[in-house]
Amino acid sequence: MEDVALTLHADSIAQAVQMELISNVTRAIEKGGTAYAIDYCNTAAMSLTDSMSKVYGVQIQRITEKNRNLANVLKTSNDRTLYKMFDGQARLKDTLLYEGGKAIYYKRIHTAIPTCLGCHGDPKKDIHPETLRKIQLFYPNDSATGFSLNAFRAMWKITFPKD
Ligand code: HEC
Repeated sequence: MEDVALTLHADSIAQAVQMELISNVTRAIEKGGTAYAIDYCNTAAMSLTDSMSKVYGVQIQRITEKNRNLANVLKTSNDRTLYKMFDGQARLKDTLLYEGGKAIYYKRIHTAIPTCLGCHGDPKKDIHPETLRKIQLFYPNDSATGFSLNAFRAMWKITFPKD
């Protein structure tokens, strides 16, 4: 595939997974409240991205410097470079590059809706104490709080297989 087509394809994958995550977390909050939805994210977020990776035949990750799940740290030097670029350049939406012959797509993720703040916002004013306790229980090294609405939160990283 050409770079433009790969970029569009990767973007549509990121959007599909995002929609799935948001609708699932919203449903979990409606069913049992925000603290309950932490259990849901803890067990389901990674398995959802993993199963969608299989469906699309790519590797789908959400990575960040301020991670909650330890699996989602920045690992490569490209991860770190792109994170800094997105953080510093609000108008840079996404990018496609090659590493070891594999196409990799990065796209910014923002705390785009108020719901995000219930679990990633200010621990003193946005996150309910019961939810905060749950977060600390599951993620003793959590650094994914303190975000305001529309803040840069993380990146989609979509890795295509070598062709
Ligand atoms: C009900 C609480 C809750 C809500 C609401 C929520 N998240 Fe999360 N989020 C979590 C938990 C818990 C994890 C860790 C999941 C895991 O263990 O895989 C997480 C992980 C993430 C990650 C992966 C990187 C990391 O830190 O591990 C991103 C990115 C993210 N959330 C963004 C968002 C955005 C954007 C929104 C709003 C659209 C949002 N979250 C709403 C609880 C929540």
